[in-house]
Amino acid sequence: MKILAFETIDSTNTWALRNIDNVEDKTLVTAFSQTCGHGRFRRKWVSDNPENLYLTFVLKPSDYAHAANLTQYLSVIMVRVLKSYNVCANIKWSNDVRIQGKKIAGILCESTVRGGKIKGLALGIGVNLNMSETEVKKIDIPATALNLHTGITTAKDEFLKRLYDEFFEDYDEFLEKGFSYIKEEYRANLEYLGENVQVSNGAEKEEVLMLDITDEGELIVKDKNGTQKILRTADINFNPV
Ligand code: BTN
Repeated sequence: MKILAFETIDSTNTWALRNIDNVEDKTLVTAFSQTCGHGRFRRKWVSDNPENLYLTFVLKPSDYAHAANLTQYLSVIMVRVLKSYNVCANIKWSNDVRIQGKKIAGILCESTVRGGKIKGLALGIGVNLNMSETEVKKIDIPATALNLHTGITTAKDEFLKRLYDEFFEDYDEFLEKGFSYIKEEYRANLEYLGENVQVSNGAEKEEVLMLDITDEGELIVKDKNGTQKILRTADINFNPV
């Protein structure tokens, strides 16, 4: 395992993208805290707890054809790792990992592109490993941490090793076959299938019925007029009608 461990940096993703030419494929970048940890939809990722995991996989595959689905691949891997702790987790489309409706991990993939070519990917994940009930309640969305489900302090190095091993176990096959390789496992863990949800894209919000996912990992929904649509990016929230 190649690992670059920092005490405090702006963001493991940003650091990886800045240094992409000098970091080898499959290197892990970690930090005990991040001053500019960020998530999808320009949200802040609170990153001041050294007991949590802030991690970026630096990836430079020979073929980027399936890069867009790597976040979903990592969400499936996280569910497997949590299962190894006897904790049952689910995925909120497209890649939030949750336990009983509370988020435990967030995933964000960013890239450096130069001259129209991808130079490398920063596949980042933040995992709440050890937090108090009071601390998780301060987060602005329903959140949880692994220790609150196992009843014991999570050993960070052990967790990182399990995540690394599980990630690279199927990585080559995933890169070759793409989302279809993980589709059934992803679908089996997906929340809200067949339910009404609210999808938001920026300020736009719409109520839809969540029908299924495509072979590319996109979401198939039916809107209020009965029109079927395919969504590539959006935030999902439960909206019982
Ligand atoms: C999300 O749920 O919106 C994604 C959150 C991703 C957070 C991780 S923490 C490590 C890496 N560095 C960042 O700044 N973001 C990702």
